[in-house]
Amino acid sequence: MDKAKYFYVTTPIYYPSGNLHLGHAYTTTLADILNRYKQSQGYETFFLTGSDEHGQKIEKKALEMGLAPLAYLDEKVELFKTLWTKLGIGYSKFIRTTDHEHTTTVKKIFTKLLDKGYIYPGFYEGLYCVSCEEFLNPDQIDENGLCKVSHDAPQLVKEETYFLKVSSFQDFISELLSGEFILPVYRQNEMLKNFVDPGLKDLSITRVSFAWGIPISEDPKHVVYVWLDALTNYLTALGYLQDDGQLFEKFWSNQSEIVQLVGKEITRFHAIYWPTILKMLDLRMPDKLLSHGWIVNDGEKMSKSLGNVIDPIAYINQYGADGLRFYLAYELPINKDGNFSESMFIESFNAHLANNVGNLISRVNNMISKYFDGYLGDDLTITSPLMNQKINQVIDDFQQLMDEYDLSGAVRKVLDFSSFCNKYIEEQMPWVLAKEEKLDQLKVVLMDLQKAMTTISYLLKPVLVFSYPLMVDQCGVSEPEVLSYRELKTYQNLKFKKLGEKKVLFERIKPVV
Ligand code: ME8
Ligand code: MG
Repeated sequence: MDKAKYFYVTTPIYYPSGNLHLGHAYTTTLADILNRYKQSQGYETFFLTGSDEHGQKIEKKALEMGLAPLAYLDEKVELFKTLWTKLGIGYSKFIRTTDHEHTTTVKKIFTKLLDKGYIYPGFYEGLYCVSCEEFLNPDQIDENGLCKVSHDAPQLVKEETYFLKVSSFQDFISELLSGEFILPVYRQNEMLKNFVDPGLKDLSITRVSFAWGIPISEDPKHVVYVWLDALTNYLTALGYLQDDGQLFEKFWSNQSEIVQLVGKEITRFHAIYWPTILKMLDLRMPDKLLSHGWIVNDGEKMSKSLGNVIDPIAYINQYGADGLRFYLAYELPINKDGNFSESMFIESFNAHLANNVGNLISRVNNMISKYFDGYLGDDLTITSPLMNQKINQVIDDFQQLMDEYDLSGAVRKVLDFSSFCNKYIEEQMPWVLAKEEKLDQLKVVLMDLQKAMTTISYLLKPVLVFSYPLMVDQCGVSEPEVLSYRELKTYQNLKFKKLGEKKVLFERIKPVV
């Protein structure tokens, strides 16, 4: 494939059975950072998130609240959107599975698969976890008979249903999961071992025991199982099988890089059932499934059903969204479970944003003001070979790791470079150069540092979306629009202005006692 022109990134659509918590903010922030990064590389992007509104769990919840499902849902969806705005999430579309375009397309997809012979009627008997909206295999149940993820007692379901012929795609799925579909790769092996190698079973995809779902045209007492309804959102949101299919033509084409983010507990649906559905519809596979670990609390998944959640809004209000975005991207690499606490948050903020990056910008800004009245002149090419090489290196390393979807690793490169710059100041001792009136030498050191901190700011732009304008202002960049990875290596258009009023970036947070 030629280099893709389009980039399509998705998050799971979350259940509005409660308020969103830090776990949801984690996935959505990672997607947002990737999306902004790809935009900065010149891709045309589409970033999808939304809400998963059908199924027994939602029906039950609305009933408990004494509301009609839609009245209940409308309120929750507003709260979802408020969180995303506060967190700086620049999604392209928010899909709701109750949207008319979605429900009508799901019916069409069902009909299509039925006509192709991939769906057949039958009878299902099995254990169902309502909290996870999932039929459980024996190894998903603990020694007390409870679901290992939600700790709820599964219900015995015995009812007529339509099945999807997943079993016919055994070889296809085995092959897909033997390549590089899932990151981290070890989760791919888990899927093979737990679900694929023992033999794929057909999936029950309609229910008759409750009504809050999309009724199928062929047999309306059946509603579509919540996961078939949910997974297809990634297509319906682009206009698949609808009058205006332009977005679909672009973003689900072979010229598109398609990346989907999920938490590890729903990897099974996205690694097995979703590719099967796509294959049945003769559609291409996504490029990558990024399956991240959980934010845990005392070893337990942070979750609505367990009630041990952290509210991201409280953190945003107190410390700002960028600190939270930074923690989620840097401190929680996707390949393992991770922790979050207020003291860990503050420690990370102080160490990396206040004492490292913020401090660098503040020191360099001070020295340029003090020794050169805020302006080093218009020759940006003066540099030391070492710094020049370091700047080029961090730009390359950052992009390489981001291209591998290693957000944490990419941010680490920038932080390491910032530490290097702080040390460089100690080594070069600009105050000594000033005292000895070695002004030419002093100018080179400060110009190098001004370019370095501009580079650091630009590389962190997808993460620190709210702080970025102030960061480049404090770096003295006069037209931030000209910045790009290329520009930071060539300095053809970049100009610095005379530094103005000094403002504090990333003020140190007092540790909680
Ligand atoms: O599963 N740590 O929705 P959901 C990290 N509607 N990520 C977490 C997390 C945690 N403790 N808790 C939640 C559903 N998440 C379905 C999805 S998609 C077609 C349908 C994040 O509300 C993570 O992305 O239970 C996880 O997969 C998702 O929220 C589950 O959200
Ligand atoms: Mg869940």
